Amino acid sequence: MKKTLALILAACMSLSLVACGGGNSSTPNNGSQAGTSQPASSQPSTGGDTSAKTVGISMPTKSLERWNRDGAYLDEQFKAAGYNTIVTYSDNKNEQQVNDIQNMLSQGVDLLIIAAIDGNGLNTVMNDAGAAGIPVIAYDRLIMNDNSSYYVSFDNYTVGKLQGEYVRDALQLDSAAGPFNMEFTAGDPADNNAGYFFNGAMDVMKPYIDSGKVIVKSGQTAFDQVATDQWQTDVALDRAQNVLASYYSDGSQLDAWLCSNDSTSLGVTQAITQDYAGSNSVVITGQDGDEANLRNIKDGTQSMTVYKAVANEAVVTLDLAKAILNGDTIDASLISASGWSFDCAYDTDSYETTPGNKCPSFLLVPDVVTADNMEEKLVTPGYYTVGDDGYLKATNG
Ligand code: GAL
Repeated sequence: MKKTLALILAACMSLSLVACGGGNSSTPNNGSQAGTSQPASSQPSTGGDTSAKTVGISMPTKSLERWNRDGAYLDEQFKAAGYNTIVTYSDNKNEQQVNDIQNMLSQGVDLLIIAAIDGNGLNTVMNDAGAAGIPVIAYDRLIMNDNSSYYVSFDNYTVGKLQGEYVRDALQLDSAAGPFNMEFTAGDPADNNAGYFFNGAMDVMKPYIDSGKVIVKSGQTAFDQVATDQWQTDVALDRAQNVLASYYSDGSQLDAWLCSNDSTSLGVTQAITQDYAGSNSVVITGQDGDEANLRNIKDGTQSMTVYKAVANEAVVTLDLAKAILNGDTIDASLISASGWSFDCAYDTDSYETTPGNKCPSFLLVPDVVTADNMEEKLVTPGYYTVGDDGYLKATNG
């Protein structure tokens, strides 16, 4: 892990030297900004090798912290490996992402890396890419189109399972008398991952709900009832305020709120801080290790986050892209040949783009971060540094 990050950081440093020497601005994330659809082309760090291939990197939005880190890592690593890159952020608007990808295709990209805003919303451009023979790596979120050549992500079901297990252990559901009150907040229905996160968590909690050890006072236990459009903090905040006003203003104790990710966790935490009358500390989960949430974890208002090392997700994506562009056979041997210092599984069974059409996947392993292990999990490997104020800052993005 340490070794990998050191390599990435070294690559980033040499990249900025090349960029400075060439008189270019070396701002990472140099793609289109929220609200625009102007892709920014990056020059290759090889000094203008015209044979270099061009990779289009389409990220969903800058408004969610993790995608800034993903975009930066991908851009830096591909450029350091000698590729031209085009990076875009599509402001969480499906139509804009369609346009951004269309532009990449017309600029002649050799390969596309796409983190979809709406996994069902890219059929036209995906079909265009397929017709042009351009391979597509579905990045982090699966695209529900058979032209998705490969999928690189984390084990999404396990993300939710880790959140559920954390709540189970924090409330000592197997030994304490209970009952306990808890609520759920899930992610964006357009994001194929969101259902996996929710199901992983619900599979842990359901036996306790069925036995009456856990009570969901709102009665909202179905994904559609607890989903959060575009993972927005404000949407999660609104729903949490409604739930608190309707079901907890009678003085009922709220013990836990399982949130699928950090942006929704921020909204729920704010609602609890402002509107919950109880004095107990509520167990709250999250995902991504966003800086604001790591701050809340340190301060004790959020309990945990599931961290996904996006720097490593970018490493897998780069090695996979190289293999695809070299015409290599892609299978589990990519992992054995890679020398990666982190775990990754080759999975040809779990993800389907359409019924019956399996998408070969490379799945990394998520990890639980709490106040107690934050430094060991995030600072020691170099993903974050400790700022002057004592809170963690991401080293990239
Ligand atoms: C998911 C992703 C999560 C989180 C969420 C909100 O697709 O896997 O890590 O970032 O989107 O953007």
